[in-house]
Amino acid sequence: MFFASDNWAGAHPAINERLSKESTRFAAAYGTSDLDRAIEQRFNEIFEKEVAVFFVATGTAANSLSLASIARPGGLTFCHTEAHVIEDECGAPDFFSGMRMVGVEGPAGKMLPENLIERIARYPQDSVHHGRAAAVTMTQATEVGTIYSLDEIDVISKIAKDNGLPLHMDGARFANALVSLGCSPAEMTWKRGVDVLSFGGTKNGCWCAEAIVFFDPQLAKDFAFLRKRTAQLFSKSRFIAAQFEAYLKDDLWIGLASHANTMADRLRTGFGSLNSARLAWQTESNEVFAVLPKASAKAASEQGAKFYDWLEPRDIPEKVGKDEVLIRMVTSFATTQEDVDQFLSICASA
Ligand SMILES: Cc1ncc(COP(=O)(O)O)c(C=O)c1O
Repeated sequence: MFFASDNWAGAHPAINERLSKESTRFAAAYGTSDLDRAIEQRFNEIFEKEVAVFFVATGTAANSLSLASIARPGGLTFCHTEAHVIEDECGAPDFFSGMRMVGVEGPAGKMLPENLIERIARYPQDSVHHGRAAAVTMTQATEVGTIYSLDEIDVISKIAKDNGLPLHMDGARFANALVSLGCSPAEMTWKRGVDVLSFGGTKNGCWCAEAIVFFDPQLAKDFAFLRKRTAQLFSKSRFIAAQFEAYLKDDLWIGLASHANTMADRLRTGFGSLNSARLAWQTESNEVFAVLPKASAKAASEQGAKFYDWLEPRDIPEKVGKDEVLIRMVTSFATTQEDVDQFLSICASA
């Protein structure tokens, strides 16, 4: 019963098989192999346009270097107050970009458009003392398991464009959001004005594969140097390419994310029918936040379930009682129905 994070899951057998096949041959290093090139092409197909793609090792690197690529001196990056980039990356985006993060409030993990407008307006372009607005970053799926609808992405994108700011998307859980919206990768990104994307593979069945996708290759013209200077150009980059080859082949990535989302749906439905537990808020991807009696959480833990206790957000619809606990559960390609059902049955009987 591993619900602590989708990072806790292993790698999908198809990814492992591809890695092991790759390990038996020689190929050119530093991203110049035929395989690296072929997978870059594959991203063009996936996004239905010519994109510039750069493989990196972690989601933090993808976010930090994406923002570094669009940085301006004295720049400010606007993100949700609970975004991974501002809360959970130890300031790496600030460190690599030399910019500062500005948190924008909004319910359900999404920036409220009027708050974003108001925040950006506080930092006019000639404001030497306060710094100037330089980028907007949004997370899809969000850190609290919700999803920006296509219309909501349009609204955020328009605000960014009205202010001349590039828009970055943290897609550590891109596939889960895509499956939830049922749209194409192009529709969720460049067709709505996203300029740079952190495209995650690790949480959805890869061993270690993340990519930065620039929808205007011109934006990436100096990026190869930035990636090297930040130590993210791997000599055996083809092993990231190999993972992406298997990941993107025959829509494996979509199947894995669908499975993770379906397991989260099963949890959501299960919690909905338990008298003793409730959903803390409605999520739409592979993360579920539930309020349980402390006794149920303790019983589940004692029987081996792994999950994280979560700090109660300010805007939670119904407060967490003193005998209750808020927990986060994350499903993955490796979550089984049995795991979900066992967890729910412990809650039902505790
Ligand atoms: C939304 C989001 N973005 C980025 C990351 C960063 O990924 P990594 O831990 O690989 O640096 C995470 C990881 O949990 C995440 O949840």
